Amino acid sequence: MSKYIDNISLAIETAREKLASASSAAELENARVSLIGRNGAFTALGKDLASLPSEERPDAGKALNAAKEEVLALINVLSAKIATASNLGEKERAEDLTLPGRKWKIGRKHPVNIVIDDCVRIFRRMGFIVAEGPEIETVFHNFDALNTPYDHPSRDTADTFYFADGRLLRTQTSPVQIRVMEKQEPPVRIVAPGRCFRRDTPDATHSANFHQIEGLYVDKDVSMADLKSVLLQFARELMGQDVNIRLRPHFFPFTEPSVEYDFSCVMCSGKGCRICKHSGWLEISGAGMVNPAVFSNIGYDPEKWSGFAFGMGIERIAMIRYKITDIRLLYENDGRFLNQFVNIH
Ligand code: DAH
Repeated sequence: MSKYIDNISLAIETAREKLASASSAAELENARVSLIGRNGAFTALGKDLASLPSEERPDAGKALNAAKEEVLALINVLSAKIATASNLGEKERAEDLTLPGRKWKIGRKHPVNIVIDDCVRIFRRMGFIVAEGPEIETVFHNFDALNTPYDHPSRDTADTFYFADGRLLRTQTSPVQIRVMEKQEPPVRIVAPGRCFRRDTPDATHSANFHQIEGLYVDKDVSMADLKSVLLQFARELMGQDVNIRLRPHFFPFTEPSVEYDFSCVMCSGKGCRICKHSGWLEISGAGMVNPAVFSNIGYDPEKWSGFAFGMGIERIAMIRYKITDIRLLYENDGRFLNQFVNIH
């Protein structure tokens, strides 16, 4: 009897050691098999029970069961421990509190978006709301309804990207004027910022893909003086209160009369410098009084309504404002360039 009990004690001792040294699920399983598997130490002890004298068997059996239970309990505890340890990430298992922290890079606005948002903010304060139109346009909206002559060079396939179905990538934001007037009755006060496309070969001042912001104001008795005051107010809020504007006669099919407008040079305050090519003025874009033909095209009564429109290039304004000399910098997504706009808004 005592010999058998000694064997159990020995087996338990070995079992504790074996289990304690198991550090993975596989090692634990090997230990389990060698203890209570088919050929395991405890299984062998169970078989030995039969050869004991019958009066010793009950106590020996109890001792063996108690030993097996302890082994099973140990295995359960260890397997739970190993499972949690392998669920921990690299970081929790080996945390080095002396490492410097990781800095998160924060996204920021692209200069084109900074200018768009500033323009929109200024026009909204003057009572304009934002309108949108599709970038894939119909010839009707981009050219016909805007009174563009059929032989106008801007319609040429050398200047405009056409799709096989006859639609095109809008060459200007002016078609948004048409989209808005088709949908609503006057009064209209909208600005429409957006992406435009032209078949231009990229160079320092041209890109096949650029942005404009369009404006349209329709009401009763709108005059050129209204247009001029809106443009002047806009120029001063965007560039500074000492900026002046000037209008020069020009031609656009959708406005009559049409003008091009300039801001006084913000670099030299109009004295003349390299940026303004010594003229004292920076060309911004076009504007004018809405051509009555455009009103007729979309069903507004030209006898009753009058209006002005303007459009300007966002990149042009960004280049002036941030002294950028090559438009391509705006599309290269080079962090060294874009990170310079860190603290602006
Ligand atoms: N759409 C013209 C362009 O891309 C700019 C323009 C001129 C827009 C006069 C207007 C306008 O609304 O009245 O060159």
